[in-house]
Amino acid sequence: MAPAVNERLVDVGTGTGEVLRQLARRSIVPRAVTGIDASRAMLARVGPLPPGWRLRVGAVRALDLPDASFDVLSASYLLQLLAPVDLPAVLSELRRVLRPGGRLVTVTPAIPPGGMARPIAAALDGPGYAPAGSVPRTASAEPGFRA
Ligand SMILES: C[S@@+](CC[C@H](N)C(=O)[O-])C[C@H]1O[C@@H](n2cnc3c(N)ncnc32)[C@H](O)[C@@H]1O
Repeated sequence: MAPAVNERLVDVGTGTGEVLRQLARRSIVPRAVTGIDASRAMLARVGPLPPGWRLRVGAVRALDLPDASFDVLSASYLLQLLAPVDLPAVLSELRRVLRPGGRLVTVTPAIPPGGMARPIAAALDGPGYAPAGSVPRTASAEPGFRA
C-alpha cells in the first residue's frame, strides 16, 4: 500500500491498531491517518499514535467521512466478517470515500470450499463469513474498482 507522506489513509476496522502501528514504523510516515472501528473498546487499546493521526468510532457500512477524502483505504481482517449480502454496499461505501484512482488494500483470509474449514470458520465468526474469493470478486465487479 506504501502511502506517501502527503497521502491521506484511512484504516477501517482498525481494531487495536496493528496496521496503524506497522505504518508508524515505516521510514515514510503519512501525515494524515484515520483509524475507524465500530468498537470503542477496541480503539481504547490502540495506544499512542504519531501526531495528527486520529481515531473514530464508526461503522463501515456508513462512514461519516466526505466523498473522495482519502488516497488509500486499508481493511485488514474485516471484510470476511461481514455478511456476503452486505459486501456490495460496503465496497461502494469504501469507494465513495476514496478519491478517483485511490487504492483499496484488503487482507482477507480465504477459507477453501469443502471439508471442515468453512463450518468451523462459520461457527467461530458467525453466519456472515464471506466465501473465499468473494471479496476480490465483488470488488472487481464494483464500478470504479480495478483489481
Ligand atoms: C479481526 S479484527 C481486525 C483488526 C485489525 N484490522 C487487524 O488487522 O488487526 C476486526 C475489527 O473490525 C471491527 N468491525 C467489525 N465489524 C465492523 C463494522 N461493521 N464497522 C466497523 N468496524 C467493524 C471489529 O470491532 C474489530 O475491531
